[in-house]
Amino acid sequence: MAKLWGGRFTKETNKLVDTFTASISFDQKLAKEDIQGSLAHVQMLGECNIITTEEAEKIQSGLYAILDKLNKGEVEFQVEHEDVHMNIEKLLIDEIGPVGGKLHTGRSRNDQVATDMHLYLRTKTGELIKLLEKVQAALVSQSKENIETILPGYTHLQRAQPVSFAHHLLAYFWMFERDKERLQDSLKRINVLPLGAGALAGTTFPINRDRVAELLDFDSVYPNSMDAVSDRDFILEFLSIASILMMHISRLSEEMVIWSSQEFQFIELDDAFCTGSSIMPQKKNPDVPELLRGKTGRVFGDLIGLLTVLKGLPLAYNKDLQEDKEGMFDTVETLEGSLNLLAPLLETMTVNTGKMRKAVTQDYSNATDIADYLAAKGLPFRQAHEVIGKIVIYAIQKGKYLLDLEMDEYQSFSPLFEEDVYDYLTPEHVVGARKSKGGTSAEQVKQQLKLAENKLVNEA
Ligand code: ARG
Repeated sequence: MAKLWGGRFTKETNKLVDTFTASISFDQKLAKEDIQGSLAHVQMLGECNIITTEEAEKIQSGLYAILDKLNKGEVEFQVEHEDVHMNIEKLLIDEIGPVGGKLHTGRSRNDQVATDMHLYLRTKTGELIKLLEKVQAALVSQSKENIETILPGYTHLQRAQPVSFAHHLLAYFWMFERDKERLQDSLKRINVLPLGAGALAGTTFPINRDRVAELLDFDSVYPNSMDAVSDRDFILEFLSIASILMMHISRLSEEMVIWSSQEFQFIELDDAFCTGSSIMPQKKNPDVPELLRGKTGRVFGDLIGLLTVLKGLPLAYNKDLQEDKEGMFDTVETLEGSLNLLAPLLETMTVNTGKMRKAVTQDYSNATDIADYLAAKGLPFRQAHEVIGKIVIYAIQKGKYLLDLEMDEYQSFSPLFEEDVYDYLTPEHVVGARKSKGGTSAEQVKQQLKLAENKLVNEA
């Protein structure tokens, strides 16, 4: 089959080379963006009298015909035509004749492919922001139900101080909020047009790049043609943001795995989001959060893969750059799948408030509060810490929790103890007393929920 670039060649391409160098198996995902970019390019060529208006119109109607066939699933791509750009150009020439060959005037596949990727990532980034907001909304609605739900807060995965479950969930809201801000900010750098850079040095045709930018709704054009065709920072940035986002998803998933275990029983995941074991009939496995945790690995891999491809590439275009696509598609699809599942997973989980409440009465996570109690009565905190440390060992030896100790036992450690110490030790008091800004008291959590809801309303 004749190649679009066949003029300089005297032999057919080796079949292995065709297969090895072709990207059509994966870059066909960019077909619509490719047509979108071509429509704008050809419009500009016509307006600048580089081709006639009739030619421009003919090419545009040919491109629309291909788009139509594409939507109907009637297009067959050929590996011999290597990539989506040459496949579409070939389809265009088949559709409207040799005038289709004028489409590529003043353009190269190098600026064309970069443009396609900018268009693709712009759309996907917008869609991912919406999906992320659904996860945030699920966190907010679970939080609203659980302001007064108390569970152990952990450090070192050792019980530390009791907290409100809403407070714990909202910590993830803010992680996702930062992810969303990063995605929104990256749009500035995505929304710059490479087209018009030619192969690397610009073009001899009197093109109007700003007009193409306007037609494609880009904010500006790359000021340097060599940078335009070889820049993949916007993809790296996307993969970096996606890696941080997946890391957040993974941490939350890990908590769901732990919380739903027999040992914790803090939550129950909905049956519709769990799977069974083929051998152990009693099992209900948290496969979804496990897989969310596991898929984080491939997203990190996509980032490291592209960083490695780019490191050491001389300017400008190199075929290595074709390796930028599969990782990007993979990460986009992984995020779409993950966020789509995470929202209903959170919405449908049942919170076992009884188990959580019981856990905080069977530990020493109120110890800080009696230290604060003595410190409030004037004992230097460091000494109070020492006294309570001794009380904790004593209680452990007696097989008691702090609330079970008698007043004379307390007073044998310090005369400052009075009856009111018992009020200080209830989990509700412990949580409610943390009224400092951003703390876990119901009062503060309600403030925080307001801030979170405002973020969602203002950004919707
Ligand atoms: N399929 C190529 C890619 O994805 C398109 C650009 C090809 N340019 C070239 N000079 N061979 O990178």
